[in-house]
Amino acid sequence: MNAADIRKKYLAYMEKQGHAIVPSTSLMPDNDPTTLFTGSGMQQMVPYLLGESHPKGTRVTDSQKCFRAEDIEEVGDNRHTTFFEMLGNWSFGDYFKDEQLTWMVDFLIKEVGLDPERMYVTCFIGDPNNDIPRDEYTAELWQKLFKKLGIEAEIVEMGTEEQGAEKGMGTGRIFYYDASKNWWSRAGTPDNMPAGEPGGPDAEIFYDFGTEHDPAYGENCHPNCDCGRFLEIGNNVFMEYIKRADGTFAPLPNKNVDFGGGLERIAAAANGDGDMFKIGLLWPIVEKLQSASGRSYDDETDRYAFRVIADHIRGAVFMIGDGVLPSNKEQGYVLRRLLRRAMFYATELGLSDRTLEELVPIVIDLYMDVYPELDDARSAIMREVVTEEEKFHKTLERGRRELKKRIDATGHLSGEDAFVLFTTYGFPLEMTIELARDHGIEIDHGVYRDEFEKHRTLSRSAAEGKFKGGLADHGEKTTMLHTCTHLMLAALRQELGDDVHQAGSNITAERTRFDFTHGEKVERDVLDRVENFVNGAIKAAAPVKMVQMDKEEARAQGVEGSFWEKYPDTVNVYTMANDDTVYSQELCGGPHVENTGDIQGVFKITSEKSSSAGVRRIKAHLE
Ligand code: ALA
Repeated sequence: MNAADIRKKYLAYMEKQGHAIVPSTSLMPDNDPTTLFTGSGMQQMVPYLLGESHPKGTRVTDSQKCFRAEDIEEVGDNRHTTFFEMLGNWSFGDYFKDEQLTWMVDFLIKEVGLDPERMYVTCFIGDPNNDIPRDEYTAELWQKLFKKLGIEAEIVEMGTEEQGAEKGMGTGRIFYYDASKNWWSRAGTPDNMPAGEPGGPDAEIFYDFGTEHDPAYGENCHPNCDCGRFLEIGNNVFMEYIKRADGTFAPLPNKNVDFGGGLERIAAAANGDGDMFKIGLLWPIVEKLQSASGRSYDDETDRYAFRVIADHIRGAVFMIGDGVLPSNKEQGYVLRRLLRRAMFYATELGLSDRTLEELVPIVIDLYMDVYPELDDARSAIMREVVTEEEKFHKTLERGRRELKKRIDATGHLSGEDAFVLFTTYGFPLEMTIELARDHGIEIDHGVYRDEFEKHRTLSRSAAEGKFKGGLADHGEKTTMLHTCTHLMLAALRQELGDDVHQAGSNITAERTRFDFTHGEKVERDVLDRVENFVNGAIKAAAPVKMVQMDKEEARAQGVEGSFWEKYPDTVNVYTMANDDTVYSQELCGGPHVENTGDIQGVFKITSEKSSSAGVRRIKAHLE
């Protein structure tokens, strides 16, 4: 069964179990400033896991586009990809463990046709320090489900990954692992996750591809070993806890289920071949590369390049389809890096300068039934890929010469050299490293990357400085809302406490969007009082004054500010006060109105919701 069929069957199966099918959200999350890309299906579900009601009811399912930029450098083996689809189903306080695990076993064995003998599962060992019990219910449930398949499943105590490698799996089938493996939240273990974040124990499903254990990954193999013999194909999270501000755990309003299964991995299991690139959604790209280059994927020396190109062009097509454009920052930078790495490896395979644009229609055609946005954006995708190809090949030779010149002059390459090659010639770091290797220079990737990142961050903060704190422009309306935003933060801190700080802002002439640190929902009556405070300050017609102060002095005086470390020693402090009241005193780059009385209109908060773990987002405007 190929991947497209599996996706279809899964959604149909879950629909039959009463789930509403919902669309995938964009690869770029629009309400999560902590991450550049959507990396799991549950991101769009956070408000419902926290207790809000989903418009489609208590059972929903989807196939979500996901991208994990941190895996770019892992691509090249048989299993890592940057883009993937996550099949997901959720129960918002509806069904729980019994239904979820029963359905998943039924779906994987009966519908997809996987071999139950090759299926191994896990559950949570418990975390006494955080008062979270061991999930014996799940272990016994797994045992019953295997029994129905005619398999006597033995339960084995594992603990950490290291303990697993020490003990080995023996004849076990159900394994207890600790929170590093069998606890899920967006931010890791119970100890690591911030206040306000939901999480829970999980039960994972692994498939045994039967390859030999690679001792480089530890003495013995076990399901959570990374050697490639076992791949995790599904994760059932029992999302029932939330971390409190004092570090303890409280039950969420509902016991929820959050299931995520990698479509590509399930398809690989159905193929009985652990090579992800052999599945129907990637293989046509590899085939095209084989015919265009006359080289073979079976040839081990070239396989790495085939995989990188196939993965990266697919990710790039999806990204442009969601509106990302190549640039030197954030998502645009990741996109550019994907395209340039793919182009570089295309030259390594001896392919023509226009290879990537020939791959674009193959990717779109493979996916457009399910993701019609790709077809809608076809010409934009083509245009961006062609432009990047042209730019890249024009500078490739000049860059190569520049690199040689720098090496000849100094006998080595610095992080700064790599940064110049990137900004001037568009060379992604790994390409510079490969080319340096051609000159006999071996560089420690980690050290080099750190230095390169340092230059990139420095130049980025210089660029951000020009944006003056999240303002779209310096027009009159935007400036008024900027001053209102200061007043609002002062009021939020009065209402909710001194732990409230700005976490980000984006202000246009129409509205202010303001993120601040706070672990829970802000009730409407509090928002009303915040509005009253702002409108009161407008009525009071208080002068707005800017003074320059020594940074440490400002800090000692309790001037409000975030990101202190980013500011120079002398800072600008904006004070909004009249003779008897200080409304706001905050570190800022301006601009502001001269007097709060210049603000026209009535300040209104239109929405307040979760933005990411421990961060809330308010939208407000002037009416
Ligand atoms: N949210 C869970 C995961 O991404 C299902 O693994």
